[in-house]
Amino acid sequence: MAISTFSFPETRLRRWRAADWRRRLFRETVLTENDLVLPLFVVDGNDTAIDIPSLPDVQRLSVDRAVKRAREAYEAGIPAIALFPATDPKLKDARGTEALNADNLVCRSIKAIKAAVPDIGVIADVALDPYTDHGHDGIIADGDVANDETVAILIQQAVVLAEAGAGIVAPSDMMDGRIGAIRKALEAHKHVNTLILSYAVKYASAFYGPFRDAVGSGGRLGAKSGPSNKRSYQMDPANTREADREAAMDVNEGADALMVKPAGTSLDIIANLHRDGSLPVFAYQVSGEYAMLAVGAANGLFNRTDAFMESLVAIKRAGATGILTYAALDIARALKDSRP
Ligand code: PBG
Repeated sequence: MAISTFSFPETRLRRWRAADWRRRLFRETVLTENDLVLPLFVVDGNDTAIDIPSLPDVQRLSVDRAVKRAREAYEAGIPAIALFPATDPKLKDARGTEALNADNLVCRSIKAIKAAVPDIGVIADVALDPYTDHGHDGIIADGDVANDETVAILIQQAVVLAEAGAGIVAPSDMMDGRIGAIRKALEAHKHVNTLILSYAVKYASAFYGPFRDAVGSGGRLGAKSGPSNKRSYQMDPANTREADREAAMDVNEGADALMVKPAGTSLDIIANLHRDGSLPVFAYQVSGEYAMLAVGAANGLFNRTDAFMESLVAIKRAGATGILTYAALDIARALKDSRP
């Protein structure tokens, strides 16, 4: 990097900062509503919104309410939403069978949202954890999640989601080889324009706790069959080189974009993939990261909007093309309001 050899007083870095117009003129990273994706939790019922105690101000919405929220997101300028079902516990089983039901909660949500708000993008997760009675992302054999048997189910799930109208399928399961298999299946079913946003670098993180409460998977881990955590498939937060390999594999297998999560603890990884890679990098400000900021703000520790803006601009500065955040709607509105 070329660094000026001038020193004080020729160089006074505060010159840039001395007025609002100067700060705006020299600003490198500008967050806009186009950068934001709003995750939504859906639940059975009508005109229903159920609080999630560990995720302040986020609710599980019935399909009709989710449609309304999607319209609000669209009107606020948000390009896409991401859907996660809180599946009726009665429908959960060891193999996550409900994931392949073309009329399941998430498919009904996709159809209703695309019918009412056709110009918003819908991202649907590919993974079995909202549907399994043990809470894992795949099926269990010999005490662990079985890779290849799980991939055989995930490809069917991806096709079901594409058929329902998801413009982006987002495998979040961390099985090996699933991106290539899903790409082949989508092509075979003529879903040639369905994007694959691969959760390529997904760390085994404590910060997914509130999400697992929201979809009802967390309390199940280790209770029935399978391990008590997801460390045999999600990545060790200590590793960088493994992240590079995960990303390279998914590029080769036909992914259209990569996801890194959690975002705030992986800024170095986002920067590496943005600098060295060929695909857009998305980042997920996950439930626990959101909750920390929301709870801190609610307790008067800092201003909520300022804290979210700063965390999100940092993720974009690292190199993220898009950011999933539960604060997307508030922040999109605040960004709009901040312009003349
Ligand atoms: C499911 C999935 C998880 C998240 C997104 N998809 C949880 C997990 O892997 O246990 C986490 C998102 C969040 O915490 O906001 N495969």
